[in-house]
Amino acid sequence: MKIITHISEMQQWTKENGGHSIGLVPTMGALHEGHLSLVRAARKESGRVVASIFVNPTQFGPKEDLKNYPRPIARDRKLLDEEKVDVLFYPSAREMYPDGFQTEVRVKGLTEGLCGKFRPVHFAGMTTVVAKLFNAVLPAKAYFGAKDYQQAMVVKRMVRDLNFPVEIRMLETVRERDGLAMSSRNAYLNRMERIKAPMVNLALDYAEALIRQGLRDTDQIQTEIRGFLKPFVSKIDYIEVVHPENLMPIRRFQGTGLLAIACYIGATRLIDNRLVNQHGTKVPGTYYAKTTS
Ligand code: PAF
Repeated sequence: MKIITHISEMQQWTKENGGHSIGLVPTMGALHEGHLSLVRAARKESGRVVASIFVNPTQFGPKEDLKNYPRPIARDRKLLDEEKVDVLFYPSAREMYPDGFQTEVRVKGLTEGLCGKFRPVHFAGMTTVVAKLFNAVLPAKAYFGAKDYQQAMVVKRMVRDLNFPVEIRMLETVRERDGLAMSSRNAYLNRMERIKAPMVNLALDYAEALIRQGLRDTDQIQTEIRGFLKPFVSKIDYIEVVHPENLMPIRRFQGTGLLAIACYIGATRLIDNRLVNQHGTKVPGTYYAKTTS
């Protein structure tokens, strides 16, 4: 696996490998099976696979975990190497944000609800860096996990609005055996918190069951879920039922809705979500591919 740290060298490599379609898996490292499932999908669908590792400072708020974010680079390199990734793009903060950097890429409406309400600088930092990664790597496809559903929808909108020639692939959340959605931040959980963490996924099961039983009022669904989660979490940022495309809150459940939760177990912020149809049935992962946003 080739390691490239400079944008110009990355662009040159892409030019030289221009006959191949390039699949990009953008990450902040601390890789887990969720990331590796994206790499494997890229491997299947693309001639060349580039993974990027960059802990992007602009998407962290001042009180967030930028300093403590795990950076096990030797382990990450080994994992990517084993997955036969062609290039690890591993730029420094200075390479991505040189002195005098003044530009921001910001998607409006889709970033206002859900995590956007609680992490006000997050999405602008995220879209700015993803735009830069797309310009550095020039991929034909880029891969995102559905755990960060809002992120993937925001990236899709940016790609559509700014005409990036990149197809966005959103792939299903990979879970631990007890249902906890895989996340690099799970590493922060202590033993007791780790035991509580699968309750977030169980809360989604519960919401799904309520819908299956015919509950349609989303306020009532939220109240039930809040009560269910409360004994296990230290704080709830949101429990929402939103439209899967425009991410606007839904009052009465019909068609397909996205159930989304953000809460804290101890000091660790966890997010999870599930697409459910009006029969209270999980919508299969293939749905993500069809979201047009
Ligand atoms: O999901 C992530 O790891 C990050 O938000 C991303 C897409 C790599 C941008 O920094």
